[in-house]
Amino acid sequence: MKKKLLSAVLSVAMVSALLVGCGAAKEEAAAPAATEEAAPAAEEAAPAEEAAPAEEAEAPAADGSIVVGMAQVGHESDWRMANTNNYQDVFSADNGYELQFVDCDNDNAAQIEAVRNFITQEVDYICLAPIETAGWDAVLQEAKDAGIPVIIVDRTVDADKSLYSTSLGCDMVAEGETAGNCLAEYLNGAEAKIYVIEGSVGASATLGRTEGFNNIAAQHSEWTIIDSQSGDFTQNGGQEVMESFIKSNPDFNVVVCQNDNEAYGAMDAMDAAGITYGEGGDVTIISYDATHDGLQYTLDGKISINVECNPLQAAVAEQVIQKLQAGEAVDERTVVPDEAFVAPSITSSYATTMSQAVLDGRKY
Ligand code: AHR
Repeated sequence: MKKKLLSAVLSVAMVSALLVGCGAAKEEAAAPAATEEAAPAAEEAAPAEEAAPAEEAEAPAADGSIVVGMAQVGHESDWRMANTNNYQDVFSADNGYELQFVDCDNDNAAQIEAVRNFITQEVDYICLAPIETAGWDAVLQEAKDAGIPVIIVDRTVDADKSLYSTSLGCDMVAEGETAGNCLAEYLNGAEAKIYVIEGSVGASATLGRTEGFNNIAAQHSEWTIIDSQSGDFTQNGGQEVMESFIKSNPDFNVVVCQNDNEAYGAMDAMDAAGITYGEGGDVTIISYDATHDGLQYTLDGKISINVECNPLQAAVAEQVIQKLQAGEAVDERTVVPDEAFVAPSITSSYATTMSQAVLDGRKY
């Protein structure tokens, strides 16, 4: 394996990123009960700070280990933390890897720089979870010129496919369509006045979920999308956007939150404004991710529809790396499967009705 040296820039980026506080679930959410089945998930959901101290990442690679540079989006959501912990578990020293992990704190320029540093350090592989779809051609070309395979994970890029080895992640357009289909089935022809709290601007997760939901909305003349604003996939963002929606026009009956953390913030804003939601309430909440706490709210009937985005993707990335190590061809794209869930009072042909057993089996 090549000799790896972390640059001072990377160390600073890692230390500063790892010192930033993590996004938290809605405080009132019930703490997950630890069960034997849920034990690995509990580890995956542990804060990234504990799992990847910067000093560990600077240690030299063990002989023969495969060095993987991981340029992660940030720590904006519970989903992201589960995804990070999954990478740290799979690409462990025990499994024969040295994971060089950089939390890019939702800063696209910093993420491009992180990838550039991985190239300088001659890592063996780069896993890139791109914050935005745009702006990747130059640095991907640099990685290609250096002979370092890049695996695009979670989200997608709009760069030429010849510049990276493969991409893997959930189908965000399908997630948006599932959300729309679940809503249509639930409303059964009733009028919908909809607010959308989108994810981060320029992220494929945002673009895909928006496109998919809009595909279904276009089939329903009884639906009106009143407004869409970015909540940046954070709880604070969700709360702020919901507050401004309520202020400008409180006449709505559906809010689509493009992840669970935004839904927690939206619920806080509606609680403060005296707006009821969920079973027996005035507003139907749709969320994405289906993390443990999001599913707890779904089981409680507060979130009506929750479309999963499976964060446990590192094993797929590892399979790709093992194939590339063996000189085998890899697929252009691997879709990580996910499913959808609805509150206990709802039945759906597109989603599983929530139960305690489903929640107990949740691994993140
Ligand atoms: O790209 C996946 C999305 O990014 C998840 O839905 C969200 O929680 C995260 O921030």
